Amino acid sequence: MVFLNGAFIKKIKASVSVMDRGFLFGDGVYEVIPVYQGKIFRLTEHLDRLQNSLDSTQITNPYSHDEWRTILTKLNSFSPELDQSLYLQVTRGADTQRKHNFDALTPTVYIEANPLTPKTKSQLKVGFSAITREDIRWHRCDIKSTSLLANILYAQEAKQDQVEEVILSRNHEITEGATSNVFILKDKTLFTHPADSNILSGITRDLVISSAKACKLNVQETSFSLSDIQRADGLWISSSTREIMPITLLDDQPINQGVIHSAWSCVYDCYQQLKND
Ligand code: PDD
Repeated sequence: MVFLNGAFIKKIKASVSVMDRGFLFGDGVYEVIPVYQGKIFRLTEHLDRLQNSLDSTQITNPYSHDEWRTILTKLNSFSPELDQSLYLQVTRGADTQRKHNFDALTPTVYIEANPLTPKTKSQLKVGFSAITREDIRWHRCDIKSTSLLANILYAQEAKQDQVEEVILSRNHEITEGATSNVFILKDKTLFTHPADSNILSGITRDLVISSAKACKLNVQETSFSLSDIQRADGLWISSSTREIMPITLLDDQPINQGVIHSAWSCVYDCYQQLKND
């Protein structure tokens, strides 16, 4: 079952107009929200970020927080899996003709639920590889837009190179991953790019920050460079679906000699605890 414009229907029956600006222009925004043990995780934070994306693109939010909660909870109840990832997107809606500028339209709302199987701690402890690339995206990465051409090209490159993620840099500063936020650990301080318009400020990012503080790490929201990564004690990426993943090989070079720092384990455990609260 999926949710489309006010109705719960079978996915096979779901269709939208070819005049939908989401189809024509990628003119829409989205959220990916994890559900653990049947409970939607950090829903308020995701809905607040959705509101920010909608405000930034002048799309009217069709629902209140309470209405979103009711819809998402109902959709969730159709699936037997207790751990799910909810994908929701709101596009500007369907127009009568293709034109770049827009009039007020009725937004199109689509939501689907998929099973979520986050990697276990022992699966994560193996360590993952990544490559670096120039960040060619626009300067409003804080908007969680469905226009993801650059991100999907990076993801395809990662697939072809058989690496987990592409880590991006702009003017020699690391911004984030193609689908994640990036952290380095150096001498008990965790660094991550400030939450400005050059990154999407992840909901997981905030939880990594609070978990790191609980693990007695200092946290600095300061940008860092590729050479800082090469000298770091740890390199991690985070997202709602990947949680907190250690990267041990970057551009074929080991990070911290390929050893995952014990601080990762503490932050990971702390994050897992938040899921049970
Ligand atoms: N993406 N930065 C980018 C560019 C992302 O695409 C994502 C997540 C994040 C992490 O955000 P969060 O912690 O709120 O998941 C950061 C999702 C998972 C996606 O596009 O599927």
